[in-house]
Amino acid sequence: MAGRITASTLKKMKKNGEKISMITAYDFSMATIVDKSGVDVVLVGDSLGSAVLGYEDTTQVTMEDMLHHIKAVTRGVKHALVVGDMPFISYHTGVYTAVENAGRIVREGRAQGVKLEGGEEITDEIRAIIKAGIPVMGHIGLTPQSVHKMGGYFIQGKTAENARKLLHDAKALEDAGVFSIVLECIPAELAEIITRQVTVPTIGIGAGSACDGQVLVSYDLMGLFSGYVPSFVKQYADVGALMTNAVKEYVAETKSGTFPDYERSFHIDKEIIDTLKGEQ
Ligand code: KIV
Repeated sequence: MAGRITASTLKKMKKNGEKISMITAYDFSMATIVDKSGVDVVLVGDSLGSAVLGYEDTTQVTMEDMLHHIKAVTRGVKHALVVGDMPFISYHTGVYTAVENAGRIVREGRAQGVKLEGGEEITDEIRAIIKAGIPVMGHIGLTPQSVHKMGGYFIQGKTAENARKLLHDAKALEDAGVFSIVLECIPAELAEIITRQVTVPTIGIGAGSACDGQVLVSYDLMGLFSGYVPSFVKQYADVGALMTNAVKEYVAETKSGTFPDYERSFHIDKEIIDTLKGEQ
C-alpha cells in the first residue's frame, strides 16, 4: 500500500469514479486490523459512546473520551485517513471553541481531519476550522447528536421540504469547504441527487448505493455490538459469537484443569525440583 490517504485523495477518487470505503475504529488493535484490510478512511466516531462506553446516546460523549480513543487509533493507522468526530457541544458555543477543540483532535489526537454534524447553521464554525488548516468532513441527514430535537432516530428527507433542506445543507457545506459529506439515513434517491449536485464525495450510511462511498460502524459490521443494529447494516461476520465461544471454552478448560497444558507452562530441571523437595 503506497502512501497515506489524504482529504484530497478522496476528492480525486470521486472524480475518477472510485468508491470510498470508511469504517469506524475506537482502539489500537481494531485500528491496526482495519488499516491493514485496506480501508480508505478510519473514523473515530462518537458512536464510541454506545459501541464501547455503554452510554445511552452520543450526547454523553466528551472531548476527553474522544481524545483518549483518537490517540489509540492514530497509533495504529499507517495508511488510511483518520477523521475524529467532534462530540456534542464541542462546536456549538462559538467559533473560538470549535477551532480550539478541532485543534486538540489534530494536535493531541494526531487525526488528519474532523467531522461535525449539521448543515448551514454550523458553516461559520466549519469555515474557521478549515481556515486553521484542518480538513472538515460534514454530516447531514440523521444526526444522532440531535436525537432530542429529532424526537428519535428517524429516516430524514422524506418530505419535499426536508429533502430540499438537506440538498441546500449539502451545498452550504460544500461552499464552506468540507472535503466530504456523510449522508446518514436518507432515501437512496435523495442521496443520489445530492451526490450528483455536489463536487465533494458523499459517504453514505443507510443512504443507498449511489453515494461516492460507504461507512459502517465496525462493531455492527463485525457483529460485536449486542444492542440495536439498524436494518441497513450488513453483518459481514459474527465476531461476538466467536468471542463468546472462545471464552466459554476457556472457562470450561479452566474448570476442568485442562488449561494450561504442559506446553503452555514454564518448567525447570527435574534435579532442581528434586533438591527442593528434599529440603522440605
Ligand atoms: O459516530 C459515528 O460512528 C458516525 C458514523 C455512523 C458516520 O458518525
